[in-house]
Amino acid sequence: MPATGPASTLLAEHHPADAQEREYLARIRGLVQDDVSWFSRQHFEPGHVTASGFVVSPDGRKLLLIHHAKLDMWLQPGGHVDPEDGSLELAARREVMEETGLRELLPLPGFPRAVDVDVHVIPANPRKGEPGHRHYDVRFAFWATDEALQAGSDALDARWVPLEQVRDAGTDDSVRRAVRKLSLRLKGWASMEPACWPAAERNKQPILEVLQRWIPEPCRVLEIASGTGQHAAWFAEGLPHVQWQPSDASVRYWQSIHGRRLRSGLPNLLPVVPVDVLEPLRPMPPVDVVYCANMIHIAPWEATDGLFRSAASVLREGRGQLITYGPFQEAGVPMVQSNVDFDAHLRSRDPRWGIRHLDDVARIAAEHGFRLVERLQMPANNLMLRWERAGD
Ligand SMILES: C[S@@+](CC[C@H](N)C(=O)[O-])C[C@H]1O[C@@H](n2cnc3c(N)ncnc32)[C@H](O)[C@@H]1O
Repeated sequence: MPATGPASTLLAEHHPADAQEREYLARIRGLVQDDVSWFSRQHFEPGHVTASGFVVSPDGRKLLLIHHAKLDMWLQPGGHVDPEDGSLELAARREVMEETGLRELLPLPGFPRAVDVDVHVIPANPRKGEPGHRHYDVRFAFWATDEALQAGSDALDARWVPLEQVRDAGTDDSVRRAVRKLSLRLKGWASMEPACWPAAERNKQPILEVLQRWIPEPCRVLEIASGTGQHAAWFAEGLPHVQWQPSDASVRYWQSIHGRRLRSGLPNLLPVVPVDVLEPLRPMPPVDVVYCANMIHIAPWEATDGLFRSAASVLREGRGQLITYGPFQEAGVPMVQSNVDFDAHLRSRDPRWGIRHLDDVARIAAEHGFRLVERLQMPANNLMLRWERAGD
């Protein structure tokens, strides 16, 4: 059952776009705080909270709308919250997948929790014995990973509408408001020249050659801290049997990864998802491998714990490996001068950063059920490490 606490937090963190949405937000917050049956579809006075999804095509150019027969309007899919739904976002995902036949949805970055909120009137339905009431709708933004649809019973029809044509597609003001928010981000990202780092250009081929040995079977990989997306595009091309899922915590890298993905045209390079290892993961499909390069030393120490925690939560039940790449200190191995200098440089940029001791990392890994199973020396005094979950 969606708990009131997390729903209240989600609403407290939402930033309305205008006065109208601000008013809706206040009303939804009031309903969630005042009433324990806020999401029950039998709660008609004044109504109940519902959840829906704005689903963007993998290229970021189209929005999925369904034709609601009862309202004769093109709207985003969504609906009632079930008692079994763990959260409003999970309710939105379930409703969207049921109504459209989409097999998977990814969280779209840039909207930390909900993308929009809206309150609208639902007319009385004498056939179902329902009085007129209101839907207090909380909306989430998702990527689709393919455009194949199969509309459910609630919808007459479903279609992908180019973002710039949504306003003329027989929809309502709230859909137009959400599309303005989405377009603002996605159009800028698509036109952005992807960033390019010399270090990633140098190390991408040696890393790929190891990945080709360590990931021989078709599977899905989540890359944490993808940065510019150079690794993601190179590895997706060099590992055509792998579905490569890039992610990052920062907006400037989301745009670089998205831009690079559009230019690459690689079918197995998935749209970028938001992953900040210091936060709980947004719901996303499970993966077989997690890969993370050059984050552990360029983030606070808590990010190491967050990396292993995130990997444990997203890896498929009973299997999976975590692959890390970067410089480490090791017991009995004196640090080469270039790494000593690099460590001092990192700490001068941010005292919470620095090259970690492998024993400390292994201790954190063990707390999350991982053990080190392979260690490879890589060029420029980096290590490539393969971690497996102890029970796998
Ligand atoms: C040096 S870059 C590495 C990028 C890429 N993996 C590579 O090797 O070229 C460090 C990356 O860590 C990401 N990062 C820092 N803190 C993070 C966090 N808490 N969660 C996820 N990523 C984080 C940054 O946004 C940045 O993309």
